[in-house]
Amino acid sequence: ASKTELEKKKILITAGPTYEKIDPVRFIGNYSSGKMGFALAEACARKGAEVVLIAGPVSLKVNHPNIKRIDVESAGEMYQAAISEFPTSDAAVLCAAVADYRPENQEPEKIKRETKGDMMLHLVPNKDIAASLGAIKRENQILVGFALETKDEIFHAESKLQRKNFDFIVLNSLRDQGAGFRCDTNKIAIIDRLGEKIEYPLKSKQEVAADIINKLATLLK
Ligand code: C5P
Repeated sequence: ASKTELEKKKILITAGPTYEKIDPVRFIGNYSSGKMGFALAEACARKGAEVVLIAGPVSLKVNHPNIKRIDVESAGEMYQAAISEFPTSDAAVLCAAVADYRPENQEPEKIKRETKGDMMLHLVPNKDIAASLGAIKRENQILVGFALETKDEIFHAESKLQRKNFDFIVLNSLRDQGAGFRCDTNKIAIIDRLGEKIEYPLKSKQEVAADIINKLATLLK
């Protein structure tokens, strides 16, 4: 993407995992490192975009004057931040691995081990941030989603593209070596609403970010 295509565009990026509290010392989380989202944020900022990076709990740092970072912990907090920033954004790239469920109750005190028997945790669904943004998306806004799958990758990615009203979806499979969580590399395919599917080779997350941004730039006017 040339500098001008992203210049002055406001781009919202979600990154990292979410933590859903069980009690004051425990949570339900996932293996997302945030590396892909942070690479995207930095690449967009270098191209002159005004980036809002909503980050779940990660150990990464950003250092660019064009990046406004909002740190959140739970899916609920990420939802609130995303819903308030999206209406003024030109595009959103939803990279975060958001928990689909949270414990119904957060215990105020540390849960003690029972002397016998199983432990039950009742989970309730979180709001789907991507689908919520897809539902309020305007004509001139671009919404990009991710799909990390373990099987039937293309089928699931295409159904998410439609269901969440994405303009395109970035697919990565845990079946590919060097792709997905925690790695410094990724192997993606991009599927858009016209049914075009491009498969990319294994690359660094920085190079993958550039490919995603090039695709985004073709859709931003
Ligand atoms: O359905 P699934 O979680 O696999 O969809 C993945 C896409 O949806 C990603 O872009 C992810 O960031 C987004 N998502 C979200 N809010 C959720 C769950 C997923 O934004 N609660």
